[in-house]
Amino acid sequence: MGNMLPRVHLWEWHDLSWFPNQARAHVMEVLAIGWMTPPLYLIDVALQQLRTVMETTGRTHVVDLCSGGGGPMIHAAKTDIKVTLTDLYPQTELWEKHALRSDGNITYKAESVSALAMPQGITGLRTLWCAFHHFRPEQATQILASAVQCGEPILIYELTRRSLVQTLFIVLGTLNVSLVFPLLGWLSMDWKSVLITYVLPLYPFIVVFDGMVSCMRTYTKAEMVAMVEKADPDGSFTWKVQEVQVRWWLPGMNMISLIGLPKSTSGIQSKA
Ligand SMILES: C[S@@+](CC[C@H](N)C(=O)[O-])C[C@H]1O[C@@H](n2cnc3c(N)ncnc32)[C@H](O)[C@@H]1O
Repeated sequence: MGNMLPRVHLWEWHDLSWFPNQARAHVMEVLAIGWMTPPLYLIDVALQQLRTVMETTGRTHVVDLCSGGGGPMIHAAKTDIKVTLTDLYPQTELWEKHALRSDGNITYKAESVSALAMPQGITGLRTLWCAFHHFRPEQATQILASAVQCGEPILIYELTRRSLVQTLFIVLGTLNVSLVFPLLGWLSMDWKSVLITYVLPLYPFIVVFDGMVSCMRTYTKAEMVAMVEKADPDGSFTWKVQEVQVRWWLPGMNMISLIGLPKSTSGIQSKA
């Protein structure tokens, strides 16, 4: 795993309640591109793991927490997977567009849903893509404990890591998406966004800052294992925390996944 940097819980701009929604939507669009950009196709690796968990548990419905722009779930819903998108700051306009094109596979909660206080009655495999690091340790543990209490499987995926190499990679990657992709027509831009990108480069600053802070806040495998022990003291779930190599030709770039399954569902050891 290499030497990890100490964890620092700074703010991310898009988490602040006063942060303009248009700017938040921009950050989410940059992230969506990050998931899908060749030649990494991070989304393929993540969705492969999602499928395995769904097959293992027999679940067909995902409740996505901290959905932002929808992340990998927009693509998962193009198959037979059904998903409910939720977020503290719901991107309802964007989600509605996705929902209309999804053949009923995408639904969403238009009201604000905190991952720390899931409303009753939303059932299904819980996912958090690129969002677990937004929570302080006790809150992150609470998210795991809530899944245990409700008997719902949970899959957590982090693209970031607290390593210098990965932080540098994320900084360069987000800067590239922010500055180059608008020129390729991959990032939607109105005149205001063009000004905020190229004249007063606030958008590049924000996405690079948030990407860097995400790395600084991401939990290590060992920290996640310690949370699992607190969240599930009776061992009613089977847990697996692992680092997944992004691509074989990119040594040092790993994603971290945490999977928790109720013990009544079998097969995690061999399949996930
Ligand atoms: C980095 S984005 C991840 C978005 C998406 N999952 C993806 O992978 O593209 C983190 C998301 O977490 C949301 N968030 C932060 N705190 C939250 C909370 N307490 N409850 C629910 N969502 C939260 C933010 O609004 C943001 O949309």
